Amino acid sequence: MTQENIKLDIDFVRSQFPAFKDPLSKDWSFFENAGGSYVPRNVIDKLTKFMTSTKVQPYAEYPMSKIAGNNMDKATKYFSQMINAQENEILVGGSTSINLYVLSNALKFIIKPGDEIIVTNQDHEANISPWRRLRDRGAKIIEWKFDKNSHELEISELKKLINNKTKILAVTHCSNIIGSINNLKEICEIAHKFNTLVIGDGVSFAPHGFPDVKELGVDFYTFSLYKTYGPHLALLYGKEEILKKLPNQNHEFLNGKYPYTINPGGPNHEELASLIGIYDYFENLYLHHFNDKDSSILEKIKKINKLISDHEEIIANPILDYLNKSKHFNLIGKSKIINKDRAPTISFTSNKMSSRELSDILVKNNIATRNDNFYAWRCLQSLGIDTIDGVVRISIVHYNSKNDVDKLIDVLKKIN
Ligand SMILES: Cc1ncc(COP(=O)(O)O)c(C=O)c1O
Repeated sequence: MTQENIKLDIDFVRSQFPAFKDPLSKDWSFFENAGGSYVPRNVIDKLTKFMTSTKVQPYAEYPMSKIAGNNMDKATKYFSQMINAQENEILVGGSTSINLYVLSNALKFIIKPGDEIIVTNQDHEANISPWRRLRDRGAKIIEWKFDKNSHELEISELKKLINNKTKILAVTHCSNIIGSINNLKEICEIAHKFNTLVIGDGVSFAPHGFPDVKELGVDFYTFSLYKTYGPHLALLYGKEEILKKLPNQNHEFLNGKYPYTINPGGPNHEELASLIGIYDYFENLYLHHFNDKDSSILEKIKKINKLISDHEEIIANPILDYLNKSKHFNLIGKSKIINKDRAPTISFTSNKMSSRELSDILVKNNIATRNDNFYAWRCLQSLGIDTIDGVVRISIVHYNSKNDVDKLIDVLKKIN
């Protein structure tokens, strides 16, 4: 069978997530995935096992400690292979916001008065504020604004803004409101002609397929592991040749021991070890759908990514189509996913009621969603939307089913 003929087995997928059987959550259609996703049982099992038998200080020679340390290293190794990075290019921190703050603190030393930094108005604030604050170092902050009609960040606009003074370009791989996927590879190619470092925010991208950071060519890339089916942690990738030049922000005796030099302190041990459960889940997903066991971890991830995005496209397009044609609702962003040019993160407002009222109706109908600005308040401001009431956001991942979508569209039709 060619990959084209293989479809995601949604019943198998859902059977891996205990939340779909839990009395509290089983009757809900869960559409808040861009806020944080459910976890497969593999992650829960790894966390429980760590806490039960290896919850000691890792890396000593007695077995409980040795196994704890081994599992923490194993998690880093798997994740590096899943995103095509080296093990010494990965850091796991508390959240993407923390990772980007810590990174900006390390990178501030490359900024001289008069240097320029490009930020966008499409990003989540986590990838804006830390870079804007570098104006205290004398940096000039330039905003790459999305197009008022298409809501996309146009490359032609970037070309007008970037120049030899641009030291940093902070840009999202995928907007958590508009859903648009930015061509990070092309953006990096342009930026590198000016020796500009690119900081990619992959938080809204990675839940729909892990990135290949080398193929993207990005200098730094971060995503939240609690949105990619894991515990509340976030991964930061940085190119080795840049990481090794950054100042030590950790204990002084760790000088030169990158990547540990970036974070002041170590990771959350039990949660780091439980990331093996995400790897195990994706491995099981692969073995359930494909026969070729000998492929590399990266090859397996790429095949799973395709299965996932095909499934997401099939189930998300009817919602996009419904919202786009409705006179009652205002859809933000592209009205159709074609070849993964948009994430199934769907934001909209109503002409007849506030986003809060709309969200309340959906929640009463067992549709887990909310209204908010989702910390992309500059994006909402530029869209002319009240940043308190915000938008209603329906965010889909691969474990959402056609039933979830049918239920949502039925409720929207009743409101209409
Ligand atoms: C696109 C995007 N970037 C960054 C963040 C911040 O992530 P964290 O909660 O891990 O700080 C979020 C969180 O929702 C997000 O959606």
